[in-house]
Amino acid sequence: MSDGGIDPVDGEPNTESANTLWHGRFASGPAQALLTYTVSLPFDRRLAAYDIAGSRAHVRGLVRVDLLTDADGESVLAALDQVEEEMASDRFVYVDSDEDIHTAVERRVTEIAGDAGARLHTGRSRNDQVATDLRLFVKDQMGDLAQTVVDFISVLHDRAVEAGDAYLPGYTHLQRAQPVLLSHHLLAHAWTFQRDVRRLLAARDAADVSPLGAGALAGSTLPLDPDGVAADLGFSRRFENSLDVVSDRDFVADSLYALTMIGIHLSRIGEEFVLWSSDEFGFVIVDDGYATGSSMMPQKKNPDIAELSRGKSGRLIGNLTGLLATLKGLPLAYNRDLQEDKEPLFDGIDQIRAGLIAVMGMIATASFRTEKMARAADESTAGATDIADFLVRTGMPFRDAHAVVAAVVRQSLDEERSLAAVVAETDNLGPDAAALLAPGVGIKLRTSPGASGPVPVAEQIERHDAALAELRTRVAGL
Ligand code: ARG
Repeated sequence: MSDGGIDPVDGEPNTESANTLWHGRFASGPAQALLTYTVSLPFDRRLAAYDIAGSRAHVRGLVRVDLLTDADGESVLAALDQVEEEMASDRFVYVDSDEDIHTAVERRVTEIAGDAGARLHTGRSRNDQVATDLRLFVKDQMGDLAQTVVDFISVLHDRAVEAGDAYLPGYTHLQRAQPVLLSHHLLAHAWTFQRDVRRLLAARDAADVSPLGAGALAGSTLPLDPDGVAADLGFSRRFENSLDVVSDRDFVADSLYALTMIGIHLSRIGEEFVLWSSDEFGFVIVDDGYATGSSMMPQKKNPDIAELSRGKSGRLIGNLTGLLATLKGLPLAYNRDLQEDKEPLFDGIDQIRAGLIAVMGMIATASFRTEKMARAADESTAGATDIADFLVRTGMPFRDAHAVVAAVVRQSLDEERSLAAVVAETDNLGPDAAALLAPGVGIKLRTSPGASGPVPVAEQIERHDAALAELRTRVAGL
């Protein structure tokens, strides 16, 4: 070594580490560089409980088809109990040759149960094993997250109900456009997150297929019972094609897509909170518990949760696109590239869970400055479309009405007078039309189904309630 770097050929026969599951084929042990680069134990330890559950079901399956005697089955199951207990109490000792969680569990089972333990891997490969572990994990996580999103939606829903008849300008192009109830605005986000729950449940369903029995890629010559094992593990079905199931990570991509969409939706709410909490908008005050200060500027109160929910959506998108790139060129069936599925998934899950909880708290505790919102709506020209609609009701074609009102808007800007004042003295408009621009009138006029006014929003709240109740029941029934 000339520069003190890592020795690239530090792989002389290494008898101490020659304890892998596959060392029988090799004359010499693995290079340290190989172990360092390929090991997945530091992150796939997170799958330990699922690996043990999968192994239990596999053992029971082997006993059912007489590939394992009852006595051997008992001793392997007892060894698995012991491994579980050692892991739970942090007494489990990992050794250098534990490449991954599957190796670690099998190695320890064999130490405990001897010859019976050496039969655990009968008819199984780490390829169907890792797919099983990850599918069980995804099912649990997607179900848990669906529950968290339902809780998140409940917060939005409660704040929407509480908002009563408060209104603000709705925006297009971030320019004041037409008035909307605050409850309508909050419910817009709530409906968005309802779609996220459905996406999480769809990803969970994609994961709900048992791979055990697929072996390395081609099933087995032994009389395995994949249907029984699938049922034992609570999967709703077994794989149809062994090659497909050991290389299929669609369920991980589906999960990351569902997570990324949640990240994007949290980001959009975050962006709104950043804007709304600025002095320029002044529509919301973030609670002290959910804001941060500045180390230098004593007056500062910053919406960091909102900003991070916006910022972290970037890594969610990265996790998804990174996995898609990993998958795209893979020939059938298992390739070690697939080990790269776990870290983006784990990170996405952790970030979204923490983000949902933080943003939920921020929304639950925020104070909405409804008088500022109303003033912003009332002072603006957000009623201009309503004046055009007034002319439409007198029989004028909308395109002509649009031109008339546009001219009136231009006049009010040129003369620096309020739109209402100019409307009041314009032919075909007058005081009746000007009355539509009085504070708080425009919002009440929005009566069409799904619109932003009090009448349709009252109905919307009921419909949202019903849809949310249905989702809550689905999630509770998982
Ligand atoms: N750590 C591996 C993964 O996550 C487990 C499967 C390894 N299989 C193999 N044939 N090397 O994909």
